[in-house]
Amino acid sequence: MKYRMIAFAVLAAFVFTANGADSFKPYVKKPDNNGVHLNAHGAGVLHHNGKYYLYGEHKIAGKAGNKAHVGVHCYSSEDLYNWKDEGIALKVFEKEGHDIEKGCIIERPKVIYNEMNDNFVMWFHLELKGQGYSAARTGLAVSDNPTGEFEYIRSFRPNAGQWPIHFPKKWQKPISDKKFNKLKEESDWDYWLTLLEKGIVLRRDFKEGQMSRDMTVFVDDNGKAYHIHSAEDNSTLHISELTDDYQDFTGRYTRARPGGYNEAPAICKYEGSYYLIASGCSGWAPNTARSFRAGNIMGEWKALGNPCKGKNPHNDIGSIKTFGGQSTYILPVEGKRNAFIAMFDVWRPSNQIDSRYMWLPAQIKDNEIIVQWQTEWGLSYFDE
Ligand code: DGJ
Repeated sequence: MKYRMIAFAVLAAFVFTANGADSFKPYVKKPDNNGVHLNAHGAGVLHHNGKYYLYGEHKIAGKAGNKAHVGVHCYSSEDLYNWKDEGIALKVFEKEGHDIEKGCIIERPKVIYNEMNDNFVMWFHLELKGQGYSAARTGLAVSDNPTGEFEYIRSFRPNAGQWPIHFPKKWQKPISDKKFNKLKEESDWDYWLTLLEKGIVLRRDFKEGQMSRDMTVFVDDNGKAYHIHSAEDNSTLHISELTDDYQDFTGRYTRARPGGYNEAPAICKYEGSYYLIASGCSGWAPNTARSFRAGNIMGEWKALGNPCKGKNPHNDIGSIKTFGGQSTYILPVEGKRNAFIAMFDVWRPSNQIDSRYMWLPAQIKDNEIIVQWQTEWGLSYFDE
């Protein structure tokens, strides 16, 4: 009897903890329920009906991993430490010329739940096959189940023919590619920066739609959703309101930190204020993270500085280079107050399948967001 009870307890513990993790170990390889390193890069997390769903870029080995050969990978978890492989939520197509043809670039997928339609809406950064990063589109896919399979809907450059709110009437003049290129050629960097702030790239892209590269999505307390993306040749973030079904842009958007060159946006809300973490623009190489706060998601966004504190002992990189990583998402921990997980990728562009994850505790202190390095930590961090 006694042995049966022990066996039962061991089995229960095993089932409860799936693959047995009870802490986060940032930067260290992260096995799923099959013992395979998580393959969900540039990820986002959805919490739905008591479960967390992780969505990210599925990478393959070698340099080829910088292109999408498989699609968007999904995992599920009840405790955030142990993740079950749920397979590929959005698959690339073999068909030549398809928007998400194998060999395109799919980055930073994010999924939100739409209550009105009781469905799941995925947005992601899409670059068309063979065109480098020039297409700068946002892509949309939907599913009735959180794990998919998601149906690809369309991709486009958002907000075509729309001026952002707060954009002065006197600057609301579209400009041709030819004039844009001439101005760029003739300007020194300082002058160019003043033109960037006044929306020179925005005006160039006015008719065809605004660029949408690094992105995230955010659902506010009132159910309104926003698409936040690097636009204007990565010089300026755009924050765009989505329609009630979350499947389109309303045309209402704002420019955040014009000329600031912010990528990798990640956002959260605490006590009525919005906090944004971003990186600078240095490709796959790490740079200094920055943070911002706003009382209204449509701005003004006030600069707060580098949110990171501490040092990553695995690579000896401190806060100056974001512990070797780049932001991708800020996850509010269910059932806890002022408890967020700031999620970062450590990119390995020569073999992205081995890129690492750094999930670190983030809290709001004195109206600033602080991300604290921890070599190993658990959710009880937030109870201390
Ligand atoms: C930085 C971005 O944050 C990544 O998602 C990726 O697009 C790389 N640039 C490509 O160089």
